[in-house]
Amino acid sequence: MSGEPPAAMLHDPILAPSLLASDHARLAEGAALAARVGAPWLHLDIMDGHFVPNLSFGPETLAALRRDGSKLFFDTHLMLAEPQKYAEAFIRAGADRISIHIEPPYDVIGTLTLIRERGKHAGIALNPGTPASAVEALLAQVDLVLVMTVQPGFGGQAFRQDVLPKIAQIAGWRKERALNFRIEVDGGIDLATAKECRAVGADSFVCGTSFFQAPDPAAFAAGIAKL
Ligand code: DX5
Ligand code: ZN
Repeated sequence: MSGEPPAAMLHDPILAPSLLASDHARLAEGAALAARVGAPWLHLDIMDGHFVPNLSFGPETLAALRRDGSKLFFDTHLMLAEPQKYAEAFIRAGADRISIHIEPPYDVIGTLTLIRERGKHAGIALNPGTPASAVEALLAQVDLVLVMTVQPGFGGQAFRQDVLPKIAQIAGWRKERALNFRIEVDGGIDLATAKECRAVGADSFVCGTSFFQAPDPAAFAAGIAKL
């Protein structure tokens, strides 16, 4: 990998601060910080204690942030064993994109269709151990592929280098088939690992710890924008 992004990058880089890493007693302030530094998206991790061994936010968290005036694009990551049961509730609460995982046994295509029929953006997510081929047939039905670069469930984990070839594979299919979806990476993303992911085709960068613990969040955001 040369470190230089391949020619003709499809999408400009976007920063999506992950609210999971903010102060949970001041979630609205965390969202406001993201907006203040010019991050267009807010990444919202939804965990059920089944698909992942942790719990986080519910639809009411999104609704409360909307009532508080947040205009950010809510990039909502459902780490749920049964996302089909909750997609509607998150859409009503203010989600702009709903990303669902490919791994659990449920009607993935039906749920993606539901999300898009409601006029929202649909994403498909895959864990580090899941091959790219698992989502290949869905690429024309989503606006985003969320490639987990850590095993989901917690923030603050180390980035997995072994996922880089899979990102390149998905970016290759995108180019070959003239598709337009974004490629989002999530887990252990900072300025250095974001650059490595950008070099193989990623364009959307979920940043939890690296953003909310950055000494200068505005400078951090500028670093992502320059990728
Ligand atoms: C983990 C979540 C991530 C996490 C990222 O399951 O999907 O969005 O919050 O946090 P960092 O950037 O700290 O790895
Ligand atoms: Zn996430």
